Amino acid sequence: MTQPAVFNAYSRYYDLLYRDKDYPGEAAYIHSLLTRHGVSQGDLLEFGSGTGKHGRLLAGLGYRVHGIERSSEMVAQSSQTGDFTCQQGDICAIDLGRTYAAVLSLFHVISYQTTNAAAQAVFARAAAHLEPGALFVFDVWYSPAVYAQRPVVRVKRMADDQIEITRLAEPVIYPNKNRIDVNYTVFVQDRASGAVETLTETHPMRHFSLPELDLLAAGAGFERLAAEEFLTGHTPGEATWGVCLVLRRVDAANGLLPA
Ligand SMILES: C[S@@+](CC[C@H](N)C(=O)[O-])C[C@H]1O[C@@H](n2cnc3c(N)ncnc32)[C@H](O)[C@@H]1O
Repeated sequence: MTQPAVFNAYSRYYDLLYRDKDYPGEAAYIHSLLTRHGVSQGDLLEFGSGTGKHGRLLAGLGYRVHGIERSSEMVAQSSQTGDFTCQQGDICAIDLGRTYAAVLSLFHVISYQTTNAAAQAVFARAAAHLEPGALFVFDVWYSPAVYAQRPVVRVKRMADDQIEITRLAEPVIYPNKNRIDVNYTVFVQDRASGAVETLTETHPMRHFSLPELDLLAAGAGFERLAAEEFLTGHTPGEATWGVCLVLRRVDAANGLLPA
């Protein structure tokens, strides 16, 4: 199954599955990270905006956010407000013909770009939407933690008043590709009838090291300003599954931009 199809099926249950995720806390963290690096207002471009949760919260914090999301169902489920809009699109190819104060890509969207070509394309598309000095902020799976902790089988259960979801996540490790394929089996039970629907999906996830991210950054005309554990700000290490990077588009006028 290709990734867009995966997310189209998944999107029906996505918000329920991640109801326990602290999106307000994450939006506040991103706001503080942006502010620390000089962006406290203005227009943000969000790569892989999902159902728009971060985007709407950041709009509530004073930004105008436009999301690009490959899954048309995710886009359809995103309620758009004046300051949060989104459109269907591929972040490896998007060209909006304008620049933003920052490009964001949150909740491992960059890790869904599993090949070098896809990762390079996303970095290039981010750079194309930023003036020199502007920021690219994203989080990824971090290789040292993936190897130290090794992904394991996990079960997650969530319910609302209509359905109960049980999700089994079974990882397959590809050590020579820096990739983990997470095979999900999702059982969705209708509480009224007891009927069960079963979905199976594979999410291929790339993990990255800092030297690898620095190469990707330099290749697209960025320099790294920060790398820290997502939310805590701690120095990344073997316990840091999700590392957050702040890159700055290098100023061509200073002669720092690669030719
Ligand atoms: C784990 S979800 C995160 C969604 C959202 N950022 C959030 O925090 O809820 C990953 C998202 O990235 C999107 N995505 C992955 N690759 C993409 C691509 N090449 N272009 C656009 N969206 C992509 C998927 O469709 C999916 O919605």
